[in-house]
Amino acid sequence: MRLKYRKLSYREMLYTTMEVKVLNNYDELSKKSAVFVAKRLLQKDNLVLGLATGDTPKGLYRELVKIYQTGLLDFSEVTTFNLDEYYPISPENAASFATFMKERFFDHVNIPEDQSHLPDGSAQEVEKECKEYEDLIHSAGGIDLQILGIGTNGHIGYNEPGSKWGSETRLVTLKEENVLEDVPGEPARKLNKALTMGIKSIMQAQEVLLLASGRKKAEIIARTIDGEISREVPASILHLHPSVTIYLDRDAASEL
Ligand code: PGA
Repeated sequence: MRLKYRKLSYREMLYTTMEVKVLNNYDELSKKSAVFVAKRLLQKDNLVLGLATGDTPKGLYRELVKIYQTGLLDFSEVTTFNLDEYYPISPENAASFATFMKERFFDHVNIPEDQSHLPDGSAQEVEKECKEYEDLIHSAGGIDLQILGIGTNGHIGYNEPGSKWGSETRLVTLKEENVLEDVPGEPARKLNKALTMGIKSIMQAQEVLLLASGRKKAEIIARTIDGEISREVPASILHLHPSVTIYLDRDAASEL
C-alpha cells in the first residue's frame, strides 16, 4: 500500500520554526519566561540579553529578580541592550525606559552598570548615537537572546508598521497610539519620537522570545502568527527568524 503524504506548503515550512506556547494566565507567562531566560544564563555566564520595556515584561523582570534572590543566578558577566528609548528624554526622567529598567530590574540584580545599555535619549548627535549603539551590540558579540513585546499595531521595539526589514538603530516617529502625552516634570510636551533598534538588529539576535498578554493583543497575535509576512505587521518578519519562541496567555491566544 502506498502511504500518502501531504505536501507541506512553502508557508507551512516557514512557520515550523516558531514555537508557540499558550500559558494559563499572565502570572504563569511571567514565571515561564523568567525560567526561559534563567536557563540561557545558566548555559552562558556572559549572556548578551536584548531587553524590552512595557507592561508585558514587568512580570518577567519580577520573577527573574526572585530567581536571582534564591542565589541561583549570577548576572555579573551579563551584558544587556534595550530595544528602545523615547527621544528626546533624560535617562533620569520618570517616564524614560532607562528609569523603568533601573527600577524594575537593574537595581535588583548584579549586572555591573557599564554592562547595561539603552539608546541614550539625551544624545545630541542622534545619528552618531545610533551608529555607536549598533557598533556596541556587534562588539559585544551580538545578542544571544532578545526579549520582545508586541504593540497592538504589530510593532516590535518601536519599529512601527511600514518599517524596512533592513533597518538598524535609528530615530523614528511614533504612531498616534504610542505617543507619550505627558513628560513628567516638564511643561506640556508630547513625545512622539524614539530611538529604536531596527528590524535587522532584532533579526540578528541568535534567539527571540516574544511575549504577549491580554485580549487586546489577540488580534495582532493572530495576524502575526497566522497571517502573511508583511511590513504592515512588523512582528510577522519573525517567521523568517530561525529560533523564535512565543509565550502567550490564554487571552492573547484567544483568536488563534
Ligand atoms: P506593552 O507594550 O507590553 O505595554 O503592551 C508592548 C509594545 O508596545 O511593544
